[in-house]
Amino acid sequence: MKKRIKIAPSLLSADYARLGEEIKEIEAFGADMLHIDVMDGHFVSNITIGAPVIKSIRKVSPIPFDVHLMVSDPCAFIDDFLDAGADIITVHFECSDNPAFLYEAIKKIKARGKRVGVSLKPHTPTEAVFQFLDIIDMVLVMTVEPGFGGQGFMSDMLPKIAKIREKNQNIDIQVDGGINNKTAPLAKLSGANILVAGSYIFGAKDRRAAINSLRE
Ligand code: DX5
Ligand code: ZN
Repeated sequence: MKKRIKIAPSLLSADYARLGEEIKEIEAFGADMLHIDVMDGHFVSNITIGAPVIKSIRKVSPIPFDVHLMVSDPCAFIDDFLDAGADIITVHFECSDNPAFLYEAIKKIKARGKRVGVSLKPHTPTEAVFQFLDIIDMVLVMTVEPGFGGQGFMSDMLPKIAKIREKNQNIDIQVDGGINNKTAPLAKLSGANILVAGSYIFGAKDRRAAINSLRE
């Protein structure tokens, strides 16, 4: 059965001086969830926002919060992000060399009844995520190097999406980085069903049309 396509605008490209209005707008335009990029300046060379900001924006919208943790020590922050209102938390496979650490993070999120994802950076082999497929809700396939918005889509990541979809028909496969109306069809064709887009949506004159163009 084909999975419904969901659109997740990435807050990274929003106007941080007007976060509440930006979120309400994409919600009204039919976004399925809000993708929130958390960076610690260590796992990636950029710093964004933490749990206090998420707690504040939680008050303005009921849209599901999809929190992408680009941090070296996710376990230290999971409870904070869940308390702040995260609905989905994605951790990076590469945050530790020890898979036990990932299992601990997954367990922590699931114990609180929330959805959990594992993300792969572009140079991490697809097979790395296979061990988690039965216990997680989502795989996030990065199609740019994490850290910044507005980069070009790496089309050589498409076979990775296809391999995961072949292994598991039901899991959510999210694709993040360089998604626009040209690259979205390729990602969907390979089996992705949740499309993250930052600069394409928030940079568009007509954001409603941009969201719709990704879904079509
Ligand atoms: C990058 C982030 C992305 C980013 C995507 O590390 O994970 O979510 O916002 O931005 P675009 O859609 O502009 O490539
Ligand atoms: Zn992201």
